[in-house]
Amino acid sequence: MEHTISITSHTDRTVTDTRSLPFGKIPTEHMFIAEYSNGKWNDARITPFQNLTLSPIALCLHYGQTVFEGMKAFVMEDGRINVFRIDKHHLRFTKSLERMCMPPVPKQLFIDAIHNLVKLDSDWVPKDEDGSLYIRPFMIATEERIGVKIAEEYLFMIVCSPAFKYYTKPLNVKVETEYVRAAEGGTGMAKCGGNYGGAFYPTNKAQQEGFDQVLWTDAKTHELIEESGTMNAMFFIDGKLVTPALSGSILDGVTRDSLIIIAREKGIVVEERQLSYKELVAAFESGKQVEAFGAGTAAVVAPIATITIEGTKYTCYTEDDANMYRLREWLLEIRKGIVPDTHNWNYII
Ligand SMILES: Cc1ncc(COP(=O)(O)O)c(C=O)c1O
Repeated sequence: MEHTISITSHTDRTVTDTRSLPFGKIPTEHMFIAEYSNGKWNDARITPFQNLTLSPIALCLHYGQTVFEGMKAFVMEDGRINVFRIDKHHLRFTKSLERMCMPPVPKQLFIDAIHNLVKLDSDWVPKDEDGSLYIRPFMIATEERIGVKIAEEYLFMIVCSPAFKYYTKPLNVKVETEYVRAAEGGTGMAKCGGNYGGAFYPTNKAQQEGFDQVLWTDAKTHELIEESGTMNAMFFIDGKLVTPALSGSILDGVTRDSLIIIAREKGIVVEERQLSYKELVAAFESGKQVEAFGAGTAAVVAPIATITIEGTKYTCYTEDDANMYRLREWLLEIRKGIVPDTHNWNYII
């Protein structure tokens, strides 16, 4: 489909040093916006970052038709800017939108919008080793109507914000066996707003108990590990990389996918399968070395220090020679352009 993107630029704001601020607090100077009505995308444009005008009866405010993506741009070793796995993010966005009965965004529009926006705001991409530009494409239902229905009007937008290290120390997590994030047949595989809103209460409770995050379990048995917060759960058990197989209740993480591909290429045995917390308990109790980590765009690899299962705290292996750090390095080398990008994962701006 043909589309043009108009660009209204201004340079009033100077690049802010956001290192000391919480993640996502300061948006960059510009944003992308396009409007959907009468079955097509109209008026695609990049404008200075600005507030929206929305009717109080915009459907997104009531019935949760909101979907988002989260991806990153990095400065490579040679100074070029790279958006990591833009295709895979577009594919997941499309799947999420389909699940929420929202219209797809043509791939070329998605890519051109990100390309133009990141190029215009390229001064905001941190050059530091641990820095990146977080890119947030998202869509909301804007049709004005109080009645429950699938909207016929939407806004697709993209905003960006400089990002630095997400977690500064290994995490203490708890296996959640009371509340669930998602059930088979529900919306767990979609990156829709409601999944996150529903996770706040149990996560907040766990944080009040002193944990950083929860490890979700499946809705039926409360035994099978699913994922954690905004990360997929991965483990090294006996040197094998074990991670819960994708299902309708787990988000198909881009980092998870990348790490699995890299691990297999490096000769590591990867098992994507069901993983009961009982298997983890058995592994810990038999003295096996267990590494656990969250895999996600925000932190790449977030080491887990301890896992509390049914009230017992188990310690994971987090020493400097842990396998997970090697895996992270291999991924970073591709992103930085230090080794050849044999999978075409880097989209160069
Ligand atoms: C629920 C959930 N699981 C897993 C992930 C990790 O996915 P990705 O590696 O694509 O960031 C995210 C973050 O997007 C998430 O929100």
